[in-house]
Amino acid sequence: MKVIREHRDRYRTELTDRAVLDAIGPCEGQKILDAGCGEGYLARRLASQGADVLGVDACQGLIDAAESVPTGTAEPVSFTCASVDAIPVGDEVFDLVVCNHLFSHLHDPSRAIHEFGRVLKSSGRLVILTLHPCFYTAHSENGAMNSVPASRYFTSRGIDQHFMVDGLESPSMITSWLRPLEYYSGTLRDAGFVITDLREPHPTGEQLQSDPWWRDGFPTALFMLLVAERR
Ligand SMILES: C[S@@+](CC[C@H](N)C(=O)[O-])C[C@H]1O[C@@H](n2cnc3c(N)ncnc32)[C@H](O)[C@@H]1O
Repeated sequence: MKVIREHRDRYRTELTDRAVLDAIGPCEGQKILDAGCGEGYLARRLASQGADVLGVDACQGLIDAAESVPTGTAEPVSFTCASVDAIPVGDEVFDLVVCNHLFSHLHDPSRAIHEFGRVLKSSGRLVILTLHPCFYTAHSENGAMNSVPASRYFTSRGIDQHFMVDGLESPSMITSWLRPLEYYSGTLRDAGFVITDLREPHPTGEQLQSDPWWRDGFPTALFMLLVAERR
């Protein structure tokens, strides 16, 4: 949480946040679910742009942290502790569901994807930002470039590692879950979605040229952003 609140994760502050906000676009008046919201920075940001946001996270401590940040009455944002496998709202409530860095924390997101289909209105959008299923391997942030053999790629694979962000190491081992691209296309299709966009947030040529941090820290495509529309 310290990393987020002190804006110390450059992948987010200089790359993925912009990509997610760009994919969401203007959101004034929209009802948005921030699924796996963590301490809530994205939910607050979307609320400040006029969206009516519910943040849901399975970790009560993070929900408490999210609720402890004062927001103006003009910024409708609320938080609740729940699993994305059983979202405590009725059907067809949201215009948009955003999953920012959530999917790598889910061992099996199939149930969650069906829940997103249930709580979204017809033509509502699902925006998923996650680790790149094809290229991300252990310690890619530190320059590691390993290819994924087919025997691993086509299964759900977990990578156990400590994350190091701006000199701060995660206190415990974190498992990042990845699964093949065809998992996303198949599971989204079966849950009634059509994929409308696939982006790979990456540094600009200018960032790579001017800053060695990006050259060392982005050795391969690290992120994938999917946009899907509920039929
Ligand atoms: C990497 S954090 C991302 C948090 C936030 N979206 C952000 O970008 O800062 C992943 C979050 O997913 C939450 N999470 C993991 N499994 C979940 C589940 N089944 N339901 C709801 N939240 C979950 C974790 O508690 C954690 O806050």
